[in-house]
Amino acid sequence: MTYDIAVIPGDGIGPEVVREAVKVLDAVAERAGFTLRYHRYPHGADHYLKTGELFPDSVLDEIRGMRAVLLGAIGDPRIEVGLLERAIIGGLRWKLDMYVNLRPIRLYAEHLCPLKGKRPADLDLVVVRENTEDLYVGLGGFFKQGTPDEVALGDMIVTRKGCERAIRYAFELARRRPRRKLHLVDKANAIRAHDLWRRTFAEVAREYPDVATDAAYIDAACMWLVKNPEWFDVVVTTNVFGDILTDLGAILQGGMGIAASGNIHPGRVSMFEPVHGSAPKYAGKNVANPLATIAAVQLMLDFLGEAQAAAALEGAIRRALVERQVPSLGADSGLSTSAIGDLMAQLAASSFETVAR
Ligand code: IPM
Ligand code: MN
Repeated sequence: MTYDIAVIPGDGIGPEVVREAVKVLDAVAERAGFTLRYHRYPHGADHYLKTGELFPDSVLDEIRGMRAVLLGAIGDPRIEVGLLERAIIGGLRWKLDMYVNLRPIRLYAEHLCPLKGKRPADLDLVVVRENTEDLYVGLGGFFKQGTPDEVALGDMIVTRKGCERAIRYAFELARRRPRRKLHLVDKANAIRAHDLWRRTFAEVAREYPDVATDAAYIDAACMWLVKNPEWFDVVVTTNVFGDILTDLGAILQGGMGIAASGNIHPGRVSMFEPVHGSAPKYAGKNVANPLATIAAVQLMLDFLGEAQAAAALEGAIRRALVERQVPSLGADSGLSTSAIGDLMAQLAASSFETVAR
């Protein structure tokens, strides 16, 4: 089996962490007996400054025919805020209709959690973030721009189709997990449009009597996630709330250095990336921790149906953290980016032998 993978290293620390994640991916692929054909794309800040090109539709058309995308990070202080992010990350998510942003929040090792007395079993949830709608769509504009009377409008979109497919994905996921529990997180008490989420959730829930359901407002959900993270199994939520809630989740896991995400359209090309950004201050120094991108590769392997390879990689990540072979998740771990990549490639390969046995 050969998989065609688009690789977009992007900006800042993106190229370094992607280089190490590809190293680890190659190491497990070799053991598992499949191969990867990488298609590299230079898009990001440097490419834009050199050529004026952001992210052409011709690239999206090429990527449409591939199995997955591995993305490093996009964002650069030299460039207008949001321009690259909207064109590249937004372009991929919207134009390739990657409608679920899947973000596991999992505590690998107790010592990494900033909460008192919480253990790995207490923090093991998955956030299903709707990924194509909400305030992110960019509808709106500015009126009387630059005057004291300026007005800015940005419309929130909720469609029946958009929330329903995210909700269905979340129910299917919850059904496959032992606890079979799904929370809807919204703000239906204040945002009228969220009533569509509530009604759709209640309707779809009838088809899944084996999944326990509950709902929480986003403000309360933030509080509960800190106070009682063990309550949560699968969470389905809107694009904006999912963005915020998963940064909170990331820090409960130990930091942005481990949080991974998959932008998924089942059956079609999907994209895997670390939740962290381009961290320009660490760029080029070989100090950034590549574990979040390596965890994104694990999600990619799961998506590709390479279950053994994914399980091996998960075991390797857990072992590296529990045994403190990687002592911290930040740029202060004392290990270089490439040393962590080497270590993870070796742990993943030996973990594969155990999993495959
Ligand atoms: C994320 C990021 C993006 C988002 C930004 C870079 C547009 O924060 O993937 O969580 O808000 O979705
Ligand atoms: Mn974010």
